[in-house]
Amino acid sequence: MFDFLKKWFRIFASAVVALLKRCIGSCGSEPEDFEKNIDIITGISNHFPSPDVFTNMSFKDERQAKGDYVKQEQSCDKSYASSLKEVEVDFESSEATCVQNPGHVNFIPITELKTSHFPVKFQDQDILETVKQLGDVTVKISVLVSGKLKTGSGKIFYIDKNTENCSCPCSDCRNSNKPRKTWWELVVVTSTHVVTNNEEAENSKCRLFYDNETSSMVNIEGLWVTKWSENSEICRLICVTCDENLANRLTLLIDNFIEIYESTFDKFYDVKRKEKLVVIVSHPHGGPKKVTIGKSGEQIKVSDGNCVLAYTTDTCPGSTGAFLYIL
Ligand SMILES: *[C@@H]1O[C@H](CO)[C@@H](O)[C@H](O)[C@H]1NC(C)=O
Ligand SMILES: *[C@@H]1O[C@H](CO)[C@@H](O)[C@H](O)[C@H]1NC(C)=O
Ligand SMILES: *[C@@H]1O[C@H](CO)[C@@H](O)[C@H](O)[C@H]1NC(C)=O
Repeated sequence: MFDFLKKWFRIFASAVVALLKRCIGSCGSEPEDFEKNIDIITGISNHFPSPDVFTNMSFKDERQAKGDYVKQEQSCDKSYASSLKEVEVDFESSEATCVQNPGHVNFIPITELKTSHFPVKFQDQDILETVKQLGDVTVKISVLVSGKLKTGSGKIFYIDKNTENCSCPCSDCRNSNKPRKTWWELVVVTSTHVVTNNEEAENSKCRLFYDNETSSMVNIEGLWVTKWSENSEICRLICVTCDENLANRLTLLIDNFIEIYESTFDKFYDVKRKEKLVVIVSHPHGGPKKVTIGKSGEQIKVSDGNCVLAYTTDTCPGSTGAFLYIL
């Protein structure tokens, strides 16, 4: 538990440092409160309000009723997801008919990303490495409810070992006589447009390490979802794994990302607000990870008095929920 708090504190502390460095005054004043709403931790891609939606879909396996599971695990006060297999969608035809970004010329496969893809002043090995490591913690999210499949993107924010006396709620364990007692909760940050409520969370999956069709991918199941804050379009999707190797690997990837993110942030701290680099790693059309690169634009004042930052970075259906990397 202490580690958990420490980690959260560290992440929030870095956001607070950013606020102190740059957020002075309110919307529209100088220096502008750039980080106030699109802050470095919670900024997500919401260019497309709705995620990619495919209709008439169904999961391939039989799902175990949730009630059975709850009965079987009376010592636990949480109710958990039913089991799901990843649904395959025809992202290629969805990509081919895309009206938003025909041809997808600006969508760079993450494994092909080079420093030369960036604007001249951002052609830096550390930035390239930061974006690649952001890719390591970027996931595709699939949500299937009533035959409708939504796909979006998210970022693994934190992993936390379960400390309650509860068996692992993943479907393999639920269908086993010897469910594991050691398991981890993964916190994935995404958009409420991708995962709207607990019913959707229970019917969601995250696909990790989906760089291309030959990558060794991992699917993990969603459990429940919480909003980042009241009125926020950002949410935390809680997922589960009882694979210790995966948990260790993810812990390392998250730590590495935070470390390089912070050092690159400090290195490019002086970049002016309107010249900032805005990079998105996402799963457009539910396909493999792609990188899009753009810059920041105007702040737009919205009805509640807050500001929203405009950006030029391309997004497509399926990009919703991806982390906005602003430098
Ligand atoms: C949906 O699925 C049903 C049965 O699998 C099929 O008969 C129907 O044509 C499908 N509808 C669409 C729009 O694809
Ligand atoms: C955990 O729960 C099981 C049964 O639900 C019980 O037999 C066991 O003693 C519990 N362990 C601890 C450490 O509380
Ligand atoms: C596919 O992605 C993996 C990493 O997940 C990489 O090692 C491999 O080179 C990629 N293959 C192609 C054809 O790009």
